[in-house]
Formats: sequence, structure tokens, C-alpha cells
Amino acid sequence: MLRDGFLGNHASFMLDFVVVALVLVVPILLYSLYSVKVQRQYARHKFLQLLLGVVLLAAVGAFEIDLHFIQGGWEKVVAKQDPPLIEAQTAWVRTVLRIHLIFAISTPFLWVTTIVLALRRFPNPPLPSSHSRLHKLLGWISTVDLTLTSVTGLWFYYTAFLAY
Ligand code: HEM
Repeated sequence: MLRDGFLGNHASFMLDFVVVALVLVVPILLYSLYSVKVQRQYARHKFLQLLLGVVLLAAVGAFEIDLHFIQGGWEKVVAKQDPPLIEAQTAWVRTVLRIHLIFAISTPFLWVTTIVLALRRFPNPPLPSSHSRLHKLLGWISTVDLTLTSVTGLWFYYTAFLAY
């Protein structure tokens, strides 16, 4: 894995990769919801949600391995900044990270639950069914959680690597 990323700061390659993935996820998600809600294209919605699930899992998995086992944790990546962050700045970065982690940790659990139940309970090819009520609830919570993961992740990236 490369030591520095491609967005022109001291973040790692995988951090930059995940930031780009988090931005790309939003239009795909919007298109998937438009497909199901307005066009009633259930099979396309299913395909896009499974694609997003696989892409997100692969990106986040590679990112975690890179950050923890290759870079040695986020504090080491942030410490590469020149001039280094002062204690108060590092403390603020840590607070923003904690806020981000609330959403980042709950999202995969919700996402997996939503997908597994949908695959088990909707017919194949997918159509509205008795599972619709629960799926819509889980689907909207998953969507909001992923969006907040994305927004707070970008906020962390900005605070850690661009703000100071
Ligand atoms: C984490 C993945 C998923 C998310 C976040 C998600 C999200 C949503 C949301 C928010 C809606 C409701 C749209 C509305 O308000 O009308 C919806 C509807 C629907 N989804 Fe998903 N979905 C996911 C995965 C899947 C999968 C894997 C399938 C198929 C196996 C599926 C099949 C459907 C169907 C059939 C509807 C229409 C329900 C109805 O209108 O009665 N979804 N989805």
C-alpha cells in the first residue's frame, strides 16, 4: 500500500480511496431510491443496493487493514503533518472521529440486516410484499445512517488533514 494518498496531503492512499468512495456512494444511493420509489424498478434497486453493499464492504475492509496494520493507526497518519498539530487540535480531531464512529460502526450492521432480511423475505425477482413495511423502515434508517457516516467521515478528513 502506498504511504501517501493522491489528494495532495499526508493522508494515506486508502484514506483518500475511502473518501472518494464515500462521495460516489451518495449519487448511486439516490439513483437506487429514485428507481424504487418513482420508477418501481425493484430489480434495479436490488442490484444497486447489493453492489453498494459489496463496494462499501471491500473499501472499508481494505481501509481498516491499511490504517491499523500498515499505517499503525490514525494518530500516526495525522502526526505526519508539517507543522504538527498542537494538543488541542489533536483533541478536536479525536472528538470528531468519535462522532464519526457512532455512525460508521452502526451502518454495516444495519446494512447487513436490511440486505439479509430483504433477500430472505422479498420474492425473487423482488416485488412489494408483507415485508415492505419493515424493509422501508430499515431501508430509510440505513440510508440516513450511511449518509451521516459519509458526512461525518468527510468532516473528520477535513479536520485531520486539511483544516490546520
Ligand atoms: C441496505 C440495502 C437496502 C436499502 C438501504 C434499501 C432501501 C429501501 C428504501 C428506503 C425503500 C423504500 C422507498 C420508499 O419509501 O418507497 C426500499 C424499497 C424496496 N426495496 Fe430496498 N433497500 C435495500 C436493499 C434491498 C434489497 C436487497 C432488495 C431485494 C431483495 C430490496 C427490495 C426492495 C423492494 C421490493 C422495495 C419496495 C417496497 C414497496 O414499495 O412496497 N431492497 N428499499
